[in-house]
Amino acid sequence: MPRPADAAALARHLTDAGYTLDAVTDRIGATATAALARNTTLAARDVLADATDPQATCLRAFVLQDAVPTRDLAAAVGDLDALERAGLLDQQGGSARARVEIRPYASAGVHDETVAPGAGTGPGGAVDGWVVHDRIPTLDGRIAASRPDFVLGLSPASTALAQLTVRRPIGTALDLGTGCGVQALHLAGHAGRVVATDLNPRALDLAAWTTGLNGVDADLRLGSLYKPVSGERFDLIVTNPPFVMAPPSPERLVYREGSLPGDELMRRVVTDGAAHLAPGGILQVLGNWAVTEGGDPADRIRGWVAPTGCSALVLERERLDPYEYVEVWLADAGLVGTPHYGPRYRQWIDWFDGLGITGIGLGWIALYADAAGDITVESWPHAVHQPVGEAFAAHPAALALAHRSDADLLASHLVLDPRVDAETLGRPGAADPEHLVLRQRYGFGRAVEVDTGLAAVLGACDGDLPLGALIEAVAGLLDVDAAALAGEVVANVRDLAREGYVTLPVS
Ligand SMILES: C[S@@+](CC[C@H](N)C(=O)[O-])C[C@H]1O[C@@H](n2cnc3c(N)ncnc32)[C@H](O)[C@@H]1O
Repeated sequence: MPRPADAAALARHLTDAGYTLDAVTDRIGATATAALARNTTLAARDVLADATDPQATCLRAFVLQDAVPTRDLAAAVGDLDALERAGLLDQQGGSARARVEIRPYASAGVHDETVAPGAGTGPGGAVDGWVVHDRIPTLDGRIAASRPDFVLGLSPASTALAQLTVRRPIGTALDLGTGCGVQALHLAGHAGRVVATDLNPRALDLAAWTTGLNGVDADLRLGSLYKPVSGERFDLIVTNPPFVMAPPSPERLVYREGSLPGDELMRRVVTDGAAHLAPGGILQVLGNWAVTEGGDPADRIRGWVAPTGCSALVLERERLDPYEYVEVWLADAGLVGTPHYGPRYRQWIDWFDGLGITGIGLGWIALYADAAGDITVESWPHAVHQPVGEAFAAHPAALALAHRSDADLLASHLVLDPRVDAETLGRPGAADPEHLVLRQRYGFGRAVEVDTGLAAVLGACDGDLPLGALIEAVAGLLDVDAAALAGEVVANVRDLAREGYVTLPVS
């Protein structure tokens, strides 16, 4: 673990070297930045040419994985002996080679403006700093397997989890399976106290560098699942646990694979997690679940959630067949082109067969510690509006509105979200559209077909008059029976409330 003073000193040097996300992106440009995101370095090398200034040296050492002259690196980051003692680099002869990546990182698209500036500890809602993690073994198309205790850097799953996390000022947050510490950084922006755990001691060491460099105070604890937080409760728990379902192997990659069969680790994360939620708390999980022969994955997940008594919103974003799935993760492990590829592929497919797993769902699970016990599990492979955490944050209030009695709904002053668009579809020149669709330009980006009466009522929902009065007015305009219209509208409005189209006015 780094001493806080060492991390702070390194952060100062990196800043002075211009080794920040904005400055580096300005220097290498969009093409090289995109190439680095694809794990190739040639475009960045072409831009840097033979530059040896501190910014270029940091980029070469900490991202391009080059050995650099010790003289240049010392000029950029200071005391190399201290960094060597801390395990961040090795020196040999006149050159130094980093043992980890230190990537400039900022939080664009992860937070939204609803986070109170300065809430909690840390940089106040946004992140602008660095993440420290293991070097990507397959950089530039190399064939190399990861070490079993490999500490993953930013992945699509990290970004997705950061974007779906509910961001609001809270007291306590838990980052379960922190890895390089990226979720802890974000949590520190809106939580008073952050606990981050991991089974892998190397992950905790690198997470300590990440949090230290960013000036974030996180309580880092070693241990499996919820053991390190026994008896503690949190307002928010976020995790993308090692959700990859893989056959047991001595080379198990701890960053992505658990040691339990099938999706048992995911089940425990969900069911055991509920007991660690404070009243009103939220558990958010990104992961995989098994689809079994003749089994409905929605029932499987309901089976996990129902005993907890929590409400839940579960979205399956993607479904893969076993062959696609195994190919993705064999490539991720760097086994393409190695002699291990074929035998591991066969073993993996046979293992799925033995467990009766015929497909794999990937998605998002949110558990809400409330008494409603209202569980929604749906397939939602469509594009969403990021950061989609806003939609997860709105769900408990949406449920409370949807659970109102008919009489209460008719007496409610509702507001149609201003970001709902009406789309009409029909033949050009026709008097009336054949279809009228309301589409959300926010959250999950849902769309729903409505009829003229419902559209007219919704269009008038600006919080001024109660729903019942709007229905009567529209019934008069359309010359239809008000009671019949009310019957249809209330049922539909209940569903629209659940999906976040209509809300109560903000008081
Ligand atoms: C997919 S990585 C996620 C890392 C990080 N949260 C992110 O968003 O990038 C999963 C992490 O869980 C850790 N892990 C694996 N098994 C665990 C367990 N049983 N309990 C806690 N953490 C575990 C791994 O070491 C790894 O750091």
